[in-house]
Amino acid sequence: MSNRVTITDHATGKSIDLETIEPTLGARLIDIQPLFRELGLLTYDPGFTATASCSSTITYLDGAKGELLYRGYPIEQLVEQSSFIETCFLLLCGHLPSKAELDQFSSEVLQESLLQEEMKRFFEGFRPNAHPMAIMVGVVGALSAFYHDFQDIHDPQNRKHSAKLLVAKMATIAAWSYRYANGLPFTYPRGDYNYVENFLHMMFSLPTNDYTPNPLAVRALEVIMISHADHEQNASTSTVRLAGSSEANPFASIAAGIGSLWGPAHGGANEAVIRMLEEIRASDQPLEHYIERAKDRKDRFRLMGFGHRIYKNYDPRAKILRKLCHEVVEGCKTTKETQELLELALRLEQVALEDEYFKQRKLYPNVDFYSGIIMLSIGIPLNMFTVIFAMARTVGWVSQWNEMFGDGHSKIGRPRQCYTGVEERDYLPMKQRKK
Ligand code: ACO
Repeated sequence: MSNRVTITDHATGKSIDLETIEPTLGARLIDIQPLFRELGLLTYDPGFTATASCSSTITYLDGAKGELLYRGYPIEQLVEQSSFIETCFLLLCGHLPSKAELDQFSSEVLQESLLQEEMKRFFEGFRPNAHPMAIMVGVVGALSAFYHDFQDIHDPQNRKHSAKLLVAKMATIAAWSYRYANGLPFTYPRGDYNYVENFLHMMFSLPTNDYTPNPLAVRALEVIMISHADHEQNASTSTVRLAGSSEANPFASIAAGIGSLWGPAHGGANEAVIRMLEEIRASDQPLEHYIERAKDRKDRFRLMGFGHRIYKNYDPRAKILRKLCHEVVEGCKTTKETQELLELALRLEQVALEDEYFKQRKLYPNVDFYSGIIMLSIGIPLNMFTVIFAMARTVGWVSQWNEMFGDGHSKIGRPRQCYTGVEERDYLPMKQRKK
């Protein structure tokens, strides 16, 4: 097979041979770097639908097959056999840890999970009704002010340390944003709990009661966290890479990623799915009415939790979470309302998957369609859903950020544009402008 592609500009008659790149898995790529230099042409691809912004060895997804691999391991095997903390090690370090490596990593993460006591004042500066995502963006950005010593991004040891520090502190920041909003005292992580147990403990334990995390809730959250840990060059990860490419410190770069994740087209969809299901449940309109609205181009309503840029098949994470949803709704003492939301989601999925509009466009449930029902069932409030997504995705963000500096090809990210504004014109003094 030839490893060249010829581009001919028929306007000038000039041609150029561009090299193709063969990835380990996935579509071949054209290296277009000489294009502008040789032909004076730029490429145009809003939304990066056919543009790879980097090389990466971390995560692979095959949209046609509905396949997701972290460092080569299928997501289905990881949710069955791994733990979130082991998956963190895998994503960060590239291999499954030995027992000694895992023990050391878990212990280091635990030691880093405390926040500086002064940081409490950051939480207290927010209004109690602040969205916890707003608190998270602010507090994570503020970590820059506390950890100056680890900001030399060219030192691999420093990068590794700040990566671990971010993974560790994120659970505490997430839980404290909930505690503050609910007027509850801040809770500290415990040495005898793992990452997920500690998060639940910091969310729900009270000084007045004994609290033991429910094993089914722990298992459910482990699966949610593993399923959300990385997803190659999505909007928030690309934001982290772009922010980091200017050599901004890791805390500022991750705060930028959290901001990007918040939108309902991305991580904010898990909250939006439940709001949509609640609206449908409360409405007198039949379900088909909402399907019709989702298909109507003039209506901004979309079926939240449906569709994906890459997956043109069932999102493997949605498959995992759909199954888990049944287990959790049955196993936890789920409210009648949550059970009704699950029944509604199942009906909505069935109607959508049989509809020509959704079939033609290959729109399937994505990771956000079922995760919210699981979180509601284990007592997580709606406004914490995207916070939990951010907590889980932090390891993906820091792994990608670390890789960017480690691969020796790091360059400031600077896309080009297709300018469609007015051509050059002379400044008009005020007196000469129209009234
Ligand atoms: N409901 C109705 N129609 C949809 C939906 C949906 N959820 N998603 C896509 N479509 C339609 C579009 O209107 C478009 O139709 P057209 O070809 O007639 O113009 C076609 O399907 C292709 O959709 P695009 O918007 O071009 O696809 P894109 O890859 O840009 O967007 C996205 C992907 C943002 C996820 C989109 O499917 C969406 O908005 N889904 C709902 C929000 C959501 O669930 N987001 C979470 C994604 S997963 C994650 O980030 C964790």
